[in-house]
Amino acid sequence: MTTSVDARHAARLTGAEKERYVRALFDRIATPYDRLNRRISLGRDERWRSMLVEESGAAAGYSVVDLGTGTGELAVQFAHATGPEGRVTGVDLSANMLAVAEEKVKRAGLSHVEFRQGNACATGLPASSADIVSMGWCLRNCGDLHAALHEVLRILKPGGVFVCLDMSRPSFAPVRGLFFLHRHLVLPLQARFAGADREAYRYLACSTDHFPDRRGLEHVLRTAGFNGVGSRALMLGAVALHRAEKPEHPYVTD
Ligand SMILES: C[S@@+](CC[C@H](N)C(=O)[O-])C[C@H]1O[C@@H](n2cnc3c(N)ncnc32)[C@H](O)[C@@H]1O
Repeated sequence: MTTSVDARHAARLTGAEKERYVRALFDRIATPYDRLNRRISLGRDERWRSMLVEESGAAAGYSVVDLGTGTGELAVQFAHATGPEGRVTGVDLSANMLAVAEEKVKRAGLSHVEFRQGNACATGLPASSADIVSMGWCLRNCGDLHAALHEVLRILKPGGVFVCLDMSRPSFAPVRGLFFLHRHLVLPLQARFAGADREAYRYLACSTDHFPDRRGLEHVLRTAGFNGVGSRALMLGAVALHRAEKPEHPYVTD
């Protein structure tokens, strides 16, 4: 099955249209998602998630919300960090991704993790309730980046931490060019030979072109009202890890 919107066009969509496209795409690739991820990241994705969890400072008893939780990989890592006295809530648009996540958590016997189908831009979760909010490759896919960050600030406790992993573009032009060619030429070829969903790969490439780069996203986070914004470049800058805090006395309204 293919979606009616071309991936290049989809990367420019906003709001409900983009959410519909993204939900259909991830519903379609939910079963092979973990395998595809490993292939695209050259086996690094698990390590990057561990870095995100370390960077968040997650500890026993913490309350964590993982937005765009997908197949629950980050939720599981957080559940180990918070222990059973903590609580992890995974939110995702895609029912099929959540079904994989539910199965994973059941197998691991982690009863303090729950999943709910919902939108990162309007979760319905209580205000000022989370010690940590995380996003792994979700922000780029949100229909409204600013609404998503506003929602992160709303559900974080004052002083709480936001951690975000996503695709980025290296700052050094020759390396940026190489990665552009890699995602627009090599990845689609890989997808063709592996019999994978070629539109998903094209969407990954095009949505990365339209997403703020590492420094740009730092600026967006500061403008949204976060404090202590910082970031790390991973894989020569093709992936970025951001960390930011909700101010102790935020201006954001609940
Ligand atoms: C690339 S996957 C990442 C999954 C997971 N975080 C990981 O680390 O592998 C992006 C996920 O974000 C979800 N997503 C995208 N936009 C969303 C939104 N507005 N609200 C909730 N989930 C969203 C998609 O359905 C998909 O499962």
